[in-house]
Amino acid sequence: MNKNKWGFIILGLAIFVIGITFPFWYGKGKSTPPPLLSLDTPAITALTEKRCVEDTAFMRANHMKLLDAWRDEAVREGHRLYTAKNGRTFEKSLTGTCLQCHSNKEQFCDRCHNYVGAKPSCFNCHIIPGEVKQ
Ligand code: HEC
Ligand code: HEC
Ligand code: HEC
Repeated sequence: MNKNKWGFIILGLAIFVIGITFPFWYGKGKSTPPPLLSLDTPAITALTEKRCVEDTAFMRANHMKLLDAWRDEAVREGHRLYTAKNGRTFEKSLTGTCLQCHSNKEQFCDRCHNYVGAKPSCFNCHIIPGEVKQ
């Protein structure tokens, strides 16, 4: 192989490496802003302690698992009362509990789900407060 050919191979490799790593370095520092979540609902405003069922980090990471467990326990086992880690009790209910405080589903649940691309199908059956199902 002559010297020229090596030059082309190295140039080709360089372009290849830049190409495959492009998604990692392009857009650094300009990530999409996180969704703006509104906690501005009558039920939350009335709370003396602005606290969810469990602490915020737990809720953020585990609310889907919590809801899954609530459904199974409430519907299959008939256990309808949840005792939180700090001793408060809540009815195990999607509409009756979560959406009482978070009655602004669109500005809260939906904003975050749209951002992460999650599409819970729960509301095909469960009622959203303020929305009349025909
Ligand atoms: C096909 C209809 C349907 C879908 C879809 C559905 N549910 Fe339900 N769900 C029900 C029915 C019916 C009950 C029983 C109502 C009762 O016993 O109070 C129930 C009860 C529950 C309960 C306990 C009672 C209450 O008031 O909430 C929870 C929690 C629950 N579902 C969560 C969910 C979640 C979370 C999803 C989405 C991941 C979901 N469900 C999707 C029909 C559905
Ligand atoms: C008693 C009112 C109340 C109830 C009931 C309630 N929440 Fe919350 N929730 C709050 C408040 C207040 C915050 C904000 C806490 C904070 O800022 O530290 C919050 C925060 C959250 C967060 C975290 C948001 C973030 O910033 O990442 C999620 C997720 C959430 N709630 C989902 C739920 C779900 C699902 C249910 C039902 C299982 C539920 N909440 C029931 C009041 C409530
Ligand atoms: C801070 C962001 C955030 C907020 C606020 C939030 N969610 Fe979620 N939710 C998520 C993420 C992330 C997932 C998981 C998506 C996945 O795994 O595909 C999820 C998943 C779920 C699921 C399971 C979906 C499924 O198909 O199994 C349910 C049910 C759910 N959320 C209910 C709620 C409800 C009700 C609220 C409002 C009271 C809410 N979430 C608020 C981020 C959020």
